[in-house]
Amino acid sequence: MPPFEYKSGELCCEDVPLAKIAAEVGTPFYVYSRSEIERAYKAFDHALEGVPHGVCYAVKACSTLGVLKILVDLGAGADIVSAGELFRWQKAGGDPKKVVFSGVGKSEAEMTAAITAGIDMFNVESAEEMGVLGRVARSMNATVNVALRVNPDVDPETHPYISTGLKQNKFGVAMSEARHLLKKAAAMGGLHVSGVDFHIGSQLVKTSPFTDAIALLIKLVDELAADDIKLDHVDIGGGLGIDYGKGDVVPSPAEYGAAVQKALAPLTSRGIKVYTEPGRVIVGNAGALVTAVMFRKRNEAKHFTIVDAAMNDLMRPALYQSFHPMQPVKQTDKPPIVTDIVGPICETGDFFARDRELPELMPGELLWIGATGAYGAAMASNYNTRPRAPEILVHGSSYTVIRQRETLEQLIAGERT
Ligand code: LLP
Repeated sequence: MPPFEYKSGELCCEDVPLAKIAAEVGTPFYVYSRSEIERAYKAFDHALEGVPHGVCYAVKACSTLGVLKILVDLGAGADIVSAGELFRWQKAGGDPKKVVFSGVGKSEAEMTAAITAGIDMFNVESAEEMGVLGRVARSMNATVNVALRVNPDVDPETHPYISTGLKQNKFGVAMSEARHLLKKAAAMGGLHVSGVDFHIGSQLVKTSPFTDAIALLIKLVDELAADDIKLDHVDIGGGLGIDYGKGDVVPSPAEYGAAVQKALAPLTSRGIKVYTEPGRVIVGNAGALVTAVMFRKRNEAKHFTIVDAAMNDLMRPALYQSFHPMQPVKQTDKPPIVTDIVGPICETGDFFARDRELPELMPGELLWIGATGAYGAAMASNYNTRPRAPEILVHGSSYTVIRQRETLEQLIAGERT
């Protein structure tokens, strides 16, 4: 069953009409389908069946406790990039032993918190970070598992801002440096060299960048074996794209799974475990932003539909020129007009769509902005002193407010004149 569907002319999330939620919690709001998150996670996990693997959900994609709890219950691990995300994961009941910690700039305080919590793995991204992590671990009489993130210099063919595996990107270390660094790490004390990892980018719509990067990783693993460094795992990051309704042809998790399993066979046949860090593909299509039309206007050049959500609620269009599917919440046979869907913020970049064909919506009518479960609410801000939108989790014919709308008092808590 698709997570969002018209039933008796009303767009519903599972069996709950979005108009009912709007009447009860106001607009704008984010809404997620629990069944869709479960389905997407299981499909991804299933695609890797046959090789020993771990799925570490990239918490950054959607880090709301109510969403994390679904992943915890499914047995997922977590890919975190801050002590804050570790805090959230544990608050949702997540096991720290299933956590990998990524990111180019972990502070000593974050390293200490993660070692204290007993996380599984640090994905280290530079020689200097390696040195600091070794020192912190030794000072705590601990030995921590590390993987070195390599930058394979493979073009993921995605938006430049979410491309991470090219040599001009800040992520990971060069393949040529990796062998030397891992030898150093193995001798350093406080560190157990467990693996190598990459994450080459996000919203990848082909499997070839993954398999190209895996081929390079295999070469490195073999070189390390010659140095007597035997690895327990490789981590192939996240990055699998989703369909944003623009006619993109995206590999299904099954196609991705088959391609990476084949490419990884020389390693998995030796018992080397595979870690993955998917975010978008788990939650992206499970979530939507629902907003109400405020006003319409037309000038000589354009028709504008002004809605009550803005770039602070969903910044992907402003930041990455992203396309999101849109539908009126009430089904209509009105003919489409061409309009810009814009928010109330004082910036020209505050738009959700430009020149979009949609039936003309009247003030008060609701608009569904789809494929916003990943990097939607998680990237929301308070710009223009706008409280962040509530988040709703639907299951069957019931729903739960998993995050309340922020209040103005919450916004200024901690400030003083
Ligand atoms: N692992 C690491 C180390 C990452 O940096 C990321 C995402 C992931 C895993 C998960 O990637 P995914 O499976 O979701 O593609 N805000 C951007 C996306 C930024 C992705 C950052 N890193 C957007 O809205 O498109």
